[in-house]
Amino acid sequence: MNKIKIVLLSSIIISFIVFSVNAQTPSTILNSDISKKITVHHAAVVTAHPLASKAGLEMLQKGGNAFDAAITVQLVLAVVYPNAGNLGGGGFMIAHTKDGNNLCLDFREVAPEKAFKDMYLDSASNPIPGLSQDGHLACGVPGTVSGIFKMLKYARLPLEILMAPAIEYAEKGFKITAAQADDLNELKPDFLKNNISPVAFVKYESWKAGDLLIQPELANTLKRIRKKGLKGFYEGPTAQYIVDEMKKGKGIISLEDLKNYEAKSRIPMEFDYKNNHIVTMPLPSSGGIILKQLLKMTAFKNMSSMGFQSPECMQLIIEAERRAYADRANFLGDPDFVKVPVKTLTSDNYLQTRINDYRPGVAGNSNDTKAGVIHESEETTHISIIDDEGNAIAITTTLNDSYGSKTVVSKAGFILNNEMDDFSIKPGVPNLYGVTGNEANAIAPRKKMLSSMTPTIVLNSNKPIIVVGTPGGSTIPTNVFQTITSLIDFKMSPENAVNLPKFHFQWLPDEVFIEPEFSNTSKEKLTAMGYVVKERGYMGRTELIQIDYQNGKKITAIADKRGDDAAAGY
Ligand code: GLY
Repeated sequence: MNKIKIVLLSSIIISFIVFSVNAQTPSTILNSDISKKITVHHAAVVTAHPLASKAGLEMLQKGGNAFDAAITVQLVLAVVYPNAGNLGGGGFMIAHTKDGNNLCLDFREVAPEKAFKDMYLDSASNPIPGLSQDGHLACGVPGTVSGIFKMLKYARLPLEILMAPAIEYAEKGFKITAAQADDLNELKPDFLKNNISPVAFVKYESWKAGDLLIQPELANTLKRIRKKGLKGFYEGPTAQYIVDEMKKGKGIISLEDLKNYEAKSRIPMEFDYKNNHIVTMPLPSSGGIILKQLLKMTAFKNMSSMGFQSPECMQLIIEAERRAYADRANFLGDPDFVKVPVKTLTSDNYLQTRINDYRPGVAGNSNDTKAGVIHESEETTHISIIDDEGNAIAITTTLNDSYGSKTVVSKAGFILNNEMDDFSIKPGVPNLYGVTGNEANAIAPRKKMLSSMTPTIVLNSNKPIIVVGTPGGSTIPTNVFQTITSLIDFKMSPENAVNLPKFHFQWLPDEVFIEPEFSNTSKEKLTAMGYVVKERGYMGRTELIQIDYQNGKKITAIADKRGDDAAAGY
C-alpha cells in the first residue's frame, strides 16, 4: 500500500471516530455569533475567529487583563484557526501597559543550527522549486510557545484557566466554517503529500461548513504544556515528536534547536506622527521601518488635501512604497546578524530627499531585478485587545503560508511553519510574496528571517487610541499604513478604514495591486500615468480597535469583513 493510501485509510477511520463522538455538544458558530462591529466602554478583543474572541473576552470577565486574554486567544486560534493560529510558528507582540510602558516581544522562528545559505539551491545554484515552502525543510524553529510564556509574566490568571478553552476545543472539537471547509478541501493533496501519518485535517469525503474538527493529539500537546510549562513543548515528548517528524522528510530541526529557543524582548520602534505617537515592530520585522518611512515620506506632502484614494494621493503613496520596499530588499535583515542603518533609513533628511524626486502625473520605474508574483493567502493572523485597566496589545503571529508547511507533527497534532521562505534564498529571487532580498536577509544558523508583520499601537497623550494589525505577508505594512492614515488624515469611520478596498505596491513586481471593488476612475488615471494596475483578491484582514476618550471611554472594535473575523467586548 502506498503512503497516500495509508494516510487516506487511516483518515477514514479517524473521521469515523470523530463523527461518532458528535454527541458532546461541540461549539457551533452561528452567523449571529460573528460581531463585525461593537461599541463598548470597558474592553474589546478582535481576532480572526469568533471562538477565539469569545474566549479572550471570557478571560477578561474572569478577572484577567489584556495579557491573559492574549494568551488564551493565541492558544484557541492554534486550535480553531489552524491556517495561521499556531504552536508551530512565531510572531510579534507590541503592548502598551496601564503604567504607560511600551513593550515589544519577538517570538519569531529561527533558522535551525544545520541551516546554511544555499540550502534551497541545486548544484547549479538555482532555487529548487517548493523546497523553502513545502514540507519539513521549510520549517524554522517555532517561537510561539516561548512567546506565550514570556507574556505570562504580565498576566494574572493561572495557566490552567488560560489554557482550558483551547484544550476543550481540541478535545471535544468545534464546527468549522465554510471558508475553513473550502481551505481544507483545497489543501488535501498538500496534506497528503507532506504527511506520512494520518492528520486531523484530512478526511475521506469533502469537508463542509459545520463539520466537526477534533484534534486529540493537539489536545495532548496542550496538556503537556499545561503540566510541564515550556518544557512541555521545547523538551520531552513534544520535542521528540518534532524531531521524529523531521526525520520523515529530511527536516533539520534538532532537540538542541528546540531547547535553545527563547523569545526575546526588544525595544519597540517609536515615532511621532501628526500629534500622535506610534509604537510598532522593529527588526526582524521590516513592518515598523516601512510604516515609518511611508508615514514620513507622505507627510512631506498634504495627503488629505489630495483626497482619499485620489490618483494624486495614490501616486504619492505608490512612489513612497517603491522607495521603502527597495530599501527593504537591500538593507533589512535580522539585526542580531547584520548591521542595518535604521536611523538613516528613517531620518527626515534621507526620506525627504528620497521622495522629492518623483514626478507627479508620471509613473516611476523600479529597476529590472526579476519581478515576483504576488501570492494571495490569509497566512498570518492578528489579534487586537484592550482591557478595562488601559493595557493594549497588538499581536501578529504566523505559520507563513496558509497552514504553513502543511506538515503536521505526528503524535503532537500541530502544523509547522514554512517561515524559512521569508529568508532571501538567493539574492533577487522572490519569495512567496514576491519580495526579494540579498545578503542582509541570507540564511544562517540561528538567524531570524525578515518579516513584514506590523502590530501597531497609536498613542495620544500616552493613552492608546488605535490598536491595529493584519495578516497579508508583504502587504501588511501598506495595509496598516492605509488604516492609520484613513483614521488620522482622512478622519474616516473605523469600519470604512478597515473595510474599504485597499491597494498595494512593493517595488517589485513593478505593479500596483488593487482589491476588488476599487474605484475605476483611480485605476484608469493611474494607468494613464504609466502604472500597471492589477486587480487581485482581498489583501489582509485588519483587526482594529479605536478608543475615544472625549466623553468617557468609547471603544469601537472592528473585525475585518474579509473573513470570519469577530469582535467581542463589554
Ligand atoms: N511570514 C510573513 C511575515 O512574517 O511577514
